[in-house]
Amino acid sequence: MCGIVGVIGKSDTVSILLNGLQKLEYRGYDSAGIYVNDQTGHDYLVKTKGRIADLKAAIGPDVHGTMGIGHTRWATHGVPSDVNAHPQFSSNKRFYLVHNGVLTNYAELKQQYLADVQFVSETDTEVAVQLIAKFVAEGADTKAAFKKALKLIKGSYAFILVDQQAPDTLYVAKNKSPLLLGKGDGFNVICSDAMAMVSETKQFVELHDQEIVTVQANQATIETLAGDVVDRAPYTVQFDESDTEKGGYPFYMLKEIDEQPAVMRRLVQTYFDENGQPQLDKDLLAKLNEADRLYILAAGTSYHAGLVAQPIFEKLAQIPTEVHLASEFGYNTPMLSEKPFFLFLSQSGETADSRQVLVKVNEWGYPSLTITNSQGSTLSREADYTLLLNAGPEIAVASTKAYTSQIALQAILAQALGQKRGVAAAESLPLKGQLGTIANTMQSIVDEKQEMDDLAKKHLATTRNAFYIGRGYDYAVSLEAALKLKEISYVQAEGFAGAELKHGTISLIEDGVPVLAIITDERVASHTRGNIQEVRARGAQVITIAMESVAEADDDIVFPDVEPLLSPLVSVVSTQLIAYYTSLNRGYDVDKPRNLAKAVTVE
Ligand code: F6R
Repeated sequence: MCGIVGVIGKSDTVSILLNGLQKLEYRGYDSAGIYVNDQTGHDYLVKTKGRIADLKAAIGPDVHGTMGIGHTRWATHGVPSDVNAHPQFSSNKRFYLVHNGVLTNYAELKQQYLADVQFVSETDTEVAVQLIAKFVAEGADTKAAFKKALKLIKGSYAFILVDQQAPDTLYVAKNKSPLLLGKGDGFNVICSDAMAMVSETKQFVELHDQEIVTVQANQATIETLAGDVVDRAPYTVQFDESDTEKGGYPFYMLKEIDEQPAVMRRLVQTYFDENGQPQLDKDLLAKLNEADRLYILAAGTSYHAGLVAQPIFEKLAQIPTEVHLASEFGYNTPMLSEKPFFLFLSQSGETADSRQVLVKVNEWGYPSLTITNSQGSTLSREADYTLLLNAGPEIAVASTKAYTSQIALQAILAQALGQKRGVAAAESLPLKGQLGTIANTMQSIVDEKQEMDDLAKKHLATTRNAFYIGRGYDYAVSLEAALKLKEISYVQAEGFAGAELKHGTISLIEDGVPVLAIITDERVASHTRGNIQEVRARGAQVITIAMESVAEADDDIVFPDVEPLLSPLVSVVSTQLIAYYTSLNRGYDVDKPRNLAKAVTVE
């Protein structure tokens, strides 16, 4: 994880770096630092344990520069501390390096090449910067030393290196971790995510693995490690800086929950034609049509979005569909069908667990699609096809609008495929209209936030644990609802298929334990009601979220009917708000829960 930034050719380097790091704080927030150089002999290194706000406070008024690098950290090697914060530097204080990733052979490199070096930090990154300094001391120039080190280093990295004796250049390289070059007029920037630098430029160039880039104020040269110069055109990012602001909200998560109706409408505009028919890449549909089985791969919330989509694909497109945790699938691969098609779901497009599967899928030669919110991301580049969520930047660590947009876009894909295959269920479903109705229903829920705040205050203010139950279509939602609650409020929450409680977990139900039941699926609603009685009889405080056609008079939240297969798009919104208010009422930093980071680029 971690986020890195670099800028060269700007007089307000410090504020550009800090603004960029603030935007990348979602990637890690246990320490941060900058190195800046004014290119007339003054340089400054400031780093500290804590958040960007702590870094800002530590920067004195004299700190200035016309080039520099910055880092916000999610600790992998070494505890969060001032010393382990980046930039890391060589013993002679000539080289400064920021790093996102994990060097898997750092211990061997240290032993083999750097036995006589006095290390000050516990980080793998310091090994890389000391190695570069060693090769320079042995006679290599900085670029050659950097290249030599890159050839020895194993693992994942996005690096920006500064040589204090030649501060007109940033040296940049990546492997597995994301990195972009942003091009400006008389300046250039580097960042882990375009969001960090969209205030400076909208023109970005994707950097690829095993490339080395030398960046100066007026030029940037991309080369392969073999020395071939690469000419790659920039693309224009489709969002503005204002999309990355909180816009008056106390937390990004609340803003992102509120944006969901608009995101649904944007998907409709993007992926349907004026006749209400889904419009998707014809090649993609042809390839999918050839497949005998769809494998959905994802992690966390995206995995839950895959679970919701499984019956949608099977009903609307009649394609057998399996959903797998990418981290398990890669190393414990099930028997595959003859003509598999792989669908990767990833908000960030950078999740290492998913990427390791995609690398294998490409080796096996099977077709793949990535559904992502991040244009130009690794999973998008490396899959055969990409569909963009266009949900706008999702900055809160807890995913909300990416989850609902992943479900909606998969439904659109399932309908398009089903229509191609002549499946009656796909032909008769007025999906475009349904998504419009769903957007309106989501809106009515977010307009009644107070209800969810009240429920959170009444039932979840002090509890240590909670259960979500649901059956049929509601089961996958109960898993997502539980994840949302636990990750931001630290309440131990579990999602269950309602019937499973009596097979073991019901022994945990005692007086006052909150059980939140989701009831939208007509086929099993009465059974869920039965499960509610079972837990009530054992003292549980039950909260019910129900769709109108299966609702009862004393349900806590009732929303109007939508197509049952798509009800998770609506039922989840109340659970997102309940999780939000539980975290808020307990006084936590909703957007940045402890121990987590947004883009998980380590396996
Ligand atoms: C939870 C959450 C995570 C992510 C998971 C995968 O709210 O956001 O569980 O869903 O880390 O991330 P992506 O979708 O970027 O691959």
